Amino acid sequence: MTDWNDHVERVLLSEAEIKEIIEKLARKIENDYSDKENIVLVGILKGSVTFLSDLMRALRIPAQVDFMRVSSYGDATTSSGNVNIILDINRKNLPSENLLIVEDIVDSGRTLKYLVTYLLNKGAKSVRTVTLLDKPDRREVDYTPEYVGKQIENHFVIGYGLDYGEKYRTLPYVGVIKPELI
Ligand code: PRP
Repeated sequence: MTDWNDHVERVLLSEAEIKEIIEKLARKIENDYSDKENIVLVGILKGSVTFLSDLMRALRIPAQVDFMRVSSYGDATTSSGNVNIILDINRKNLPSENLLIVEDIVDSGRTLKYLVTYLLNKGAKSVRTVTLLDKPDRREVDYTPEYVGKQIENHFVIGYGLDYGEKYRTLPYVGVIKPELI
């Protein structure tokens, strides 16, 4: 039987390290938003689901949850630069809602830069972003998320929601894929 753990060259973030990062992010987010604010966590499918499910349970302030799906990559490893919305949010009270976009990773920055502008134009009261991982060296557009779990170098990472060719999302940690598999 295939064991995806064998496809990992090394673990970049263990389950315990991820938990610690999420606790810190949650405390920062709680400090920044007052509890009177209507907060909506907007997970960007599919990569963010694992991070979102842990972050939402770590937060001690009320928040609603919604999802969007976009396509940003031309193939498994390169960014096409195009952002297409495949699934949009449909919210009645957007002008009173503070959206916090939840991402697993920021690479070129195109997805988040586009989404923030798009959601503000759609009428959201405010839009901020939180990402578990950030690859600042890969940036192609000027964009800085408000909340970053960990900055990483340009490794191809898998696990904890992150895929390579739709595989490996189910691994419970973030690992670097063996280069011969790419
Ligand atoms: C990844 C990631 C972000 C985007 C970041 O998603 O989850 O949405 O790419 O890249 P960027 O900063 O260069 O725009 P992907 O398109 O791989 O889809 P997935 O979440 O379904 O895996």
